[in-house]
Amino acid sequence: MIRQENCKIVSNRQIADNIFELVLAGELSSEMKQAGQFVHVKVADGLDPLLRRPISIASINDGSFTIIYRRQGKGTSLLAEKSTGMTVDVLGPLGNGFPVDEAEPGQTAVLVGGGVGVPPMYELAKQLARKGVNVVSIIGFQSFESVFYEKELSEFGEVFVATVDGSYGRTGFVTDILEGLEVQADIVFACGPTPMLRSIENGQYAQKTYLSLEERMGCGIGACFACVCHTKDDPKGLPYKKVCSDGPVFQAGEVVI
Ligand code: FES
Repeated sequence: MIRQENCKIVSNRQIADNIFELVLAGELSSEMKQAGQFVHVKVADGLDPLLRRPISIASINDGSFTIIYRRQGKGTSLLAEKSTGMTVDVLGPLGNGFPVDEAEPGQTAVLVGGGVGVPPMYELAKQLARKGVNVVSIIGFQSFESVFYEKELSEFGEVFVATVDGSYGRTGFVTDILEGLEVQADIVFACGPTPMLRSIENGQYAQKTYLSLEERMGCGIGACFACVCHTKDDPKGLPYKKVCSDGPVFQAGEVVI
């Protein structure tokens, strides 16, 4: 069930260049089930900035949950200034997340995250590992300063890091690592910028691939049509899908990205 709640800040700390990890306590956490779902956060009190910001859920805990956001622009700068004990107005959980059921125990799942697409991979890795799935994570960033959650993801399996400028890990993109991977992936889960998702879709690295789309959103609950994307069967007209309520996770080939 979707709820709106004033969640209490447990912690709000910077973990990389302009990247913040926010832990919130609230009953909302008991409604969260799937990795890849998101919450819609009212970043400031009052009407300005008006819109909520969609932020993916990084970890579902007992009585609390973690989200990770990039400080860019007015809204998220205001959020970054909030401290422990203050409250944040949160609507969620929203959307359909990654289908963990599609991976069988003993199979290998490769999780690919780019930038702020990395956070949902943490909860996903946790759920897959709990189920007995072998988890391999590939995470990509601009540079060393923006790397986060390498250690956290390594709790659940091997982690490979790529940076565009080569200041840490392998130089290049996550897809460079994906291509050279020694293990065969049974299933690929990915979240990150559209060009990254597109090349993962085109690469066909596994029998099954699921992609989480980053889309500009308005309402977050399927009412405003701000996040519409077209299906591959009918790339221009109807039918369409709404990223917020039909997604944000889609099977590769389902929608035009
Ligand atoms: Fe309003 Fe998706 S954000 S319909």
